[in-house]
Amino acid sequence: MMKPVVLVTRRFDEEALSKLRGNCQVFYHDEDRPLSRERLLEEVREVQGLICTVSERIDGEILGRAGRLQVISTVSVGFDHIDLQEATRCGVMVTYTPDVLTETTADLTWALLLATARRVVEGDRKVRERGSLDGTIMEFLGCDVHGRTLGIVGMGRIGRAVARRAMGFSMKVLYFSRRRLSLEEERSMGLQWTDWIPLLESSDFLTLHVPLTPETHHLISGPELARMKGEAILINTSRGPVVDEEALCQALLRGQISGAGLDVYEREPEVHEGLKRLPQVVLTPHIGSATRRTRRRMTQRAVENCLQALAGQRPVDLLNPEVLERDREAPLR
Ligand code: DGY
Repeated sequence: MMKPVVLVTRRFDEEALSKLRGNCQVFYHDEDRPLSRERLLEEVREVQGLICTVSERIDGEILGRAGRLQVISTVSVGFDHIDLQEATRCGVMVTYTPDVLTETTADLTWALLLATARRVVEGDRKVRERGSLDGTIMEFLGCDVHGRTLGIVGMGRIGRAVARRAMGFSMKVLYFSRRRLSLEEERSMGLQWTDWIPLLESSDFLTLHVPLTPETHHLISGPELARMKGEAILINTSRGPVVDEEALCQALLRGQISGAGLDVYEREPEVHEGLKRLPQVVLTPHIGSATRRTRRRMTQRAVENCLQALAGQRPVDLLNPEVLERDREAPLR
């Protein structure tokens, strides 16, 4: 029997790759960068499986070319780069990699929060520039983290993992979420549900953990920033477009809030020029899940999902089960 053909858009874990190669014919791009749109459009014609990342936009144009495609398996928990509705319409399964990156992303959120509050990156630069310490006591004054108020927007898997870590810093933890937790859950996690505006007004640190949807696009813009405390710090490890970057830049310039720690950007791969110039902003290159162990687990899970789909099974992390309920003999394209 002919092996199914799978396109892997970039370099990933060797073990996961050899498992894939044992079961499929693999078009493998052994480079650590996104696959160009042209190559993707060309190569997707031939394949039954596509393993991609958040850097490749999988839209109607790609799906229109991919007449044989059965599954798109993204190596990410976010899937806003995939037109899920169109994939479903075309009868293509879409899978993602939740769970395995939850704790790692929460760690990075805290790394950004601490680095921004305590001016770690500015301090590092200064030490390197000066070459020695000059004994000042009024420089690099940051703000305390312990005992302050943390506001969490979105109480899904990552929001909860961030909240758990706040206990060690004796923080008051407020949250706002589409769905309120049960009182028992709130009590056991030491969380207090708070309405949107009071959350903005009360948080010393506001951290975002929502998926990107039409409702969360520019969730934080001028009016929201104007509600925040002058000392407040905004942390974003979710998706860039959740924050209006121009409004954030203006708010920082005006001193409406005091800092920001960002791992994601509104127009990735571009980073807002104004934000790059501000020392009170810490910028990391979308590395929320980037540890060796977690990236390995993500790629392994993406391969599992892809293989399950191609073997006619229901993948564990299937986002559009409707596809399986439909007559697969007559996909709508
Ligand atoms: C995710 O998993 O969605 C991350 O943002 C990409 O690694």
